[in-house]
Amino acid sequence: MSNSKFNYEKEIRKFEKQLVKLSKITRDKFNIELQNELSLLFSRKTKEIKNKLRLNKIDQNKKNTPAKSSLSNKNLEKLPSWVKDEIDESSIVGNSNKVIQTPDKRKYHLDNKLNDLSGGEWTFFLNSVITTRYSTSGADSYAHEIRKIHPSPKPPQLMRQIIEFFTKERGLVFDYFMGVGGTLLGASLCNRKAIGIDLSGKYISAYKKATKALNLVEQKTLQADSVNFLKKTSEFSKFLNEEEIDLILIDPPYGDMMAREKTGEAAKNKKNSEATPFTNMDVDLGNMEWKKFREVFKDTIKNATKNLKDKGHIVIFIKDLQPKNGDPNLLHADLIKDINNVDKINYLGTKIWGDLSVNLYPYGYPHSYVSNQIHQYILIFRKG
Ligand SMILES: C[S@@+](CC[C@H](N)C(=O)[O-])C[C@H]1O[C@@H](n2cnc3c(N)ncnc32)[C@H](O)[C@@H]1O
Repeated sequence: MSNSKFNYEKEIRKFEKQLVKLSKITRDKFNIELQNELSLLFSRKTKEIKNKLRLNKIDQNKKNTPAKSSLSNKNLEKLPSWVKDEIDESSIVGNSNKVIQTPDKRKYHLDNKLNDLSGGEWTFFLNSVITTRYSTSGADSYAHEIRKIHPSPKPPQLMRQIIEFFTKERGLVFDYFMGVGGTLLGASLCNRKAIGIDLSGKYISAYKKATKALNLVEQKTLQADSVNFLKKTSEFSKFLNEEEIDLILIDPPYGDMMAREKTGEAAKNKKNSEATPFTNMDVDLGNMEWKKFREVFKDTIKNATKNLKDKGHIVIFIKDLQPKNGDPNLLHADLIKDINNVDKINYLGTKIWGDLSVNLYPYGYPHSYVSNQIHQYILIFRKG
């Protein structure tokens, strides 16, 4: 309480009087309880303060060298923009001589070859579950009005978070199932280069329109069948300007989920029950049954990763189908096994994305459990 006129003695006695009246507690008992509570509070506060003083002392004893004068020009040049902007006020901290601390206490490790994040931001991303409730209107929707012609556009701000972990500024991101460009917009939002391919010219045009509406850099795109295009090794390399990819970030069709007539939700809303395939083409992975999809998809990974740099990452979104006829339909588990078997590609782990903006429906009610799958799997692999 910041009010200096607060009279503790008077307030405690007032409270004591009320309590005694309400609960018939004796004054003595109240005073004993009060003393116990206060000594707990005092001991906790004393510990907190002692701990703070100890940490301050450790910090003061640490070497605190100005960063600008102690780093070579080459090292200074390699720093992320947020460190460069504060370099005059930043110091080298700790014993390793490899950690720079900016005035706002963010720390950056000079050996960080993966991204431009501070230690705290790195740790935050390691959480295996991420939940969002992105709005589909207003500035935060990132031109959803335009992108909603696609049945399953990804939120650019989610893609941005992934891109920021797996690349550095001006790194190259590749999405060969780009749709209306969730990945490409995410890359533009954080100053990365990106290249996208999709079968549908309509989706690519919507991406370009969204880019203009948002006043973002338009990334390079191509309307093509990725399966076929990625097989043409030299054409593919030329398309990338012979540059190596830092991150392959893809959101492929989830088997033929969108090409199936909808159930469940459809029971509530008949006009929504029609299938929404991405395109009507046979080469659309969204029109392939799962066994075929797995073969074709694995092939795209083999070909696309030829131009991925060593230690570059592959991040794949996928969703399971409902179990049916004894098949658990764990699409994510199938893909982990398939892709982990590709030469030089190793599975690193999964993040689960919970999309809290998805409506819930009483599927199965009142007979059986049918999951409202509001989550998707983000599978993470690395080359080498
Ligand atoms: C799940 S959507 C991707 C949505 C995208 N992440 C976005 O934010 O809009 C999958 C996309 O893959 C495309 N696609 C399917 N088969 C393809 C193929 N053989 N070559 C290129 N694109 C393909 C579809 O047209 C669809 O837009």
